[in-house]
Amino acid sequence: MTKIISNLQIDSARLWDTIHETAKFGATPKGGVRRLTLGPEDKQVRDWFRGACEAAGLQLHIDALGSMFALRKGRDMSKPPVGLGSHLDTQPTGGKFDGVLGTLAALEVVRTLNDAGIETETPICIVNWTNEEGSRFAPATMASAAYAGDYATDNILARTDAAGISVGEALDGIGYRGSEAVGARKLGAFVELHIEQGPLLEAENKTIGVVDRGQGIAWYDGKVTGFESHAGTTPMPLRRDALVTLSEIVLAIERVAKAHGPNAVGTVGEAVIAAPSRNVIPGEIAFTVDIRSPSSETLDAIDNDLRSAIAEIAARRKVEIAFDAIWRKPPTVFNARLVEAVEHATKALGYSHRRITSGAGHDACNLASVVPAAMIFVPCKDGVSHNELEDATQADCAAGANALMHTVLALAGVAS
Ligand code: GLV
Ligand code: MN
Ligand code: MN
Repeated sequence: MTKIISNLQIDSARLWDTIHETAKFGATPKGGVRRLTLGPEDKQVRDWFRGACEAAGLQLHIDALGSMFALRKGRDMSKPPVGLGSHLDTQPTGGKFDGVLGTLAALEVVRTLNDAGIETETPICIVNWTNEEGSRFAPATMASAAYAGDYATDNILARTDAAGISVGEALDGIGYRGSEAVGARKLGAFVELHIEQGPLLEAENKTIGVVDRGQGIAWYDGKVTGFESHAGTTPMPLRRDALVTLSEIVLAIERVAKAHGPNAVGTVGEAVIAAPSRNVIPGEIAFTVDIRSPSSETLDAIDNDLRSAIAEIAARRKVEIAFDAIWRKPPTVFNARLVEAVEHATKALGYSHRRITSGAGHDACNLASVVPAAMIFVPCKDGVSHNELEDATQADCAAGANALMHTVLALAGVAS
């Protein structure tokens, strides 16, 4: 049995097929996926996932925020399950792999254990977390954050999208508001496989990233209120132009992030003119800001510098600028025992590897505050993610799934 287990490999072709099968839910013409959280395409992929889990003999439980927990029994059901999984929602112009790989690799691990007739000592539990991406409802990773106790469930249920639809209404709309209390399904550990979403592994020709840290993230909602007026008749010195003001803010964010570099980044990802018209000077613009760094002190220093820069711009341009912090995720340090378990499994499988800090936010980063957690990265083409062109090789996806399986087997134990 020991030999069978150490040689056990997932079915690479089956994993690859499931990735491409689910990519049809929300497929875009450019080869990507648009599957906004709790929308019709998310329902389609959830229904597919539920069917696949039930066909694999798993018992499905859904919590009050729609996160899906698919339980495979272990020999000792008094022990908490080892969790593995990720998310199935995508960015508006997302790819086929972000989140999907980790969720479907978890399914592939279960299918492989079923085929080999392997029973684990503790149960194992695949999780599909609701709204990892945060593009329809903010913040990102909200369901795993509520699971970890960072938010009350009602607070998250009341969050609204740009059309005013709440998370609660969206859950009811697709029939995925579950009965289980958020956080009630305790896990003994959590392991998430993901594409790196950055360029390091590919550049160094490494197959596996053993993730030991995650960057901190700070999100802000901003609004510039200037004054709408006629584009043909308002002399340049008299204008209070919200868009020109935002342009200065964007450049200030770039300047401040670079000044705190190289390990700091800043982005304005959304900017919406309130009533756009070609011959009206913009009077009001809403915008979002995303700041990241592996250091909390750097996030604080950037916050400070940005607030000073924004105050100076507002006074000089005679406009009002709101700049509200809406989310702060401190940097993550993953559990040393689990990180070592990932490294050990990776070495035993013979894959090249390196330690790595996650630049992206992940559900595992939230889990890390309540349960030992770890992550496994595989390379993605040109480091590109949050883009329809996002790509990864079948061999790397399979390697990641094998590392996931052997880490989970080491944590869950094999019943003898
Ligand atoms: C999630 O994808 C994030 O890192 O923003
Ligand atoms: Mn992701
Ligand atoms: Mn993402």
